[in-house]
Amino acid sequence: MTEARQAVYPGSFDPPTNGHLDVIVRAAKIFPRVTVAVVANPQKRDPLFSLDEREKMLRVCVKPYPNVRVEHFRGLLADYVRCVHADVIIKGLRAISDFESEMAFAHMNRSLSGVDTMFLMSDASYSFVSSSLIKEVFLQGGDISGFVPISVLEVMKSLSGSGAGNRESVNVDLPDHR
Ligand code: PNS
Repeated sequence: MTEARQAVYPGSFDPPTNGHLDVIVRAAKIFPRVTVAVVANPQKRDPLFSLDEREKMLRVCVKPYPNVRVEHFRGLLADYVRCVHADVIIKGLRAISDFESEMAFAHMNRSLSGVDTMFLMSDASYSFVSSSLIKEVFLQGGDISGFVPISVLEVMKSLSGSGAGNRESVNVDLPDHR
């Protein structure tokens, strides 16, 4: 039996949420190495943050977890996981409604790459938290402080007043950690 060494947790993370972080921490307890892989989701237009900004925010969030690193990639997840020799893909499941599309993704990714997908459930308290909902609440002036890591909240607050819904770039003034 070979052990799974590197898990890849892909997502669009626009922005990273407490639900994402919950899944990352669970994965980091199970696998020796976890790569959080940021990618554009072609289904989701008009992202709030660039891939680079999302990657930077995630790096700050995962700083306490030495076996977690963050990258971004373009193109197919199946090509990426083969390229980095990943042993497993991690996906978070919030509710049964996520499962149907995730099952199709998992089958497709296994067909294309041979890499299996494992599902982790975030804490039930995050079952309704999604990046899309966070963005909608934020852009309408709602309080998102309970749903995103504090470092992400600070970046999002810095958008307020700078035309968050219609900006070209954001000043993600966060240090590069790795
Ligand atoms: O956080 P999301 O947006 O739900 O994550 C979806 C994501 C980005 C993981 C998915 O769209 C993806 O894998 N995109 C990369 C392109 C790709 O491989 N598409 C085919 C999926 S079977």
